[in-house]
Amino acid sequence: MRFIKLGLLICLLLGFVVPMAQAQDGGEGLTIGFSQIGSESAWRTAFTEAVKAEAEARGINLLFSDAQQEQENQIAAMRAWIAQGDVDAIVLAPVVESGWDDVLQEAQDAGIPVVIVDRNVDSDPDLFVTRVSSDFVHEGRLAAAWLVQATSGQCNIVELQGTVGSAAASDRQTGFNEVIAMFPDMKIIRSETGNFVRTEGKQVMESFLSAEDPANICAVWAHNDDMAIGAIEAIKEAGLVPGQDILIVSVDAIPDIFDSLDAGEANATVELSPFMGAPAFDAVVAHLNGEELPKWIPVAGKLYTSRAAYDADH
Ligand code: AHR
Repeated sequence: MRFIKLGLLICLLLGFVVPMAQAQDGGEGLTIGFSQIGSESAWRTAFTEAVKAEAEARGINLLFSDAQQEQENQIAAMRAWIAQGDVDAIVLAPVVESGWDDVLQEAQDAGIPVVIVDRNVDSDPDLFVTRVSSDFVHEGRLAAAWLVQATSGQCNIVELQGTVGSAAASDRQTGFNEVIAMFPDMKIIRSETGNFVRTEGKQVMESFLSAEDPANICAVWAHNDDMAIGAIEAIKEAGLVPGQDILIVSVDAIPDIFDSLDAGEANATVELSPFMGAPAFDAVVAHLNGEELPKWIPVAGKLYTSRAAYDADH
């Protein structure tokens, strides 16, 4: 906001009439508030670090707020930035999909553009500039297609869901279920949330292993790698061999899951790029410079079964 006000003041002093605020190509000099969910997973931490590094490289003053998984903390941070009028834009990584209408309207009324990153909101798209994210439904479809192929369409699956109410959990579930619905012998036999957290993934898997005959579980479908790694620990402690006795497929492509893949203890992961800061900042700059943007800027990801395959692509 300071950047825009200063620009207007200079132009007025010089006698120009400026139609709208302009921002330099990389966003140098802008102040941007970044409301992040927390640090529930290794992917989330990598994403935070990537956004901070990108801001620093561009000379953007990033105001970082960690919501510690609470939507009310995210809303409070946004309201503080709006009240202080000290940000040129807000980048929001929303913990859940619903409940954003009022604060997005308040930001719009104050003339502060909002770019959504990663998970989605269910608000009117007119209330935000764009969303930079992967396609969570596609991630679920990729995971399911791999599992169908690996098991010839016959598998009893236990599911470790992400945070309830989050787009990452509900869309991945939708995509996965859409594919297995085409195969009558692919069934979800247990499903519970592990909140995208490694320790919770382990606890939920322990409860699955005691509630079911382990021989009846063909695969774990985990909405993220951290929960998959927790499940791997639980499977090993139960005296079984993860990756063989029970297949493991998940999402994120964090470094730790490649250790498990290379050890044969996990089978497949779908990549979620943590490098969404650059397209988000590009979107802020383009918007401030008056460009029209599509409502979704997709970030691609593929399924990998080994570190070598991932490294070959990066
Ligand atoms: O919203 C994306 C998900 O959030 C990631 O897959 C998970 O690791 C994170 O916590």
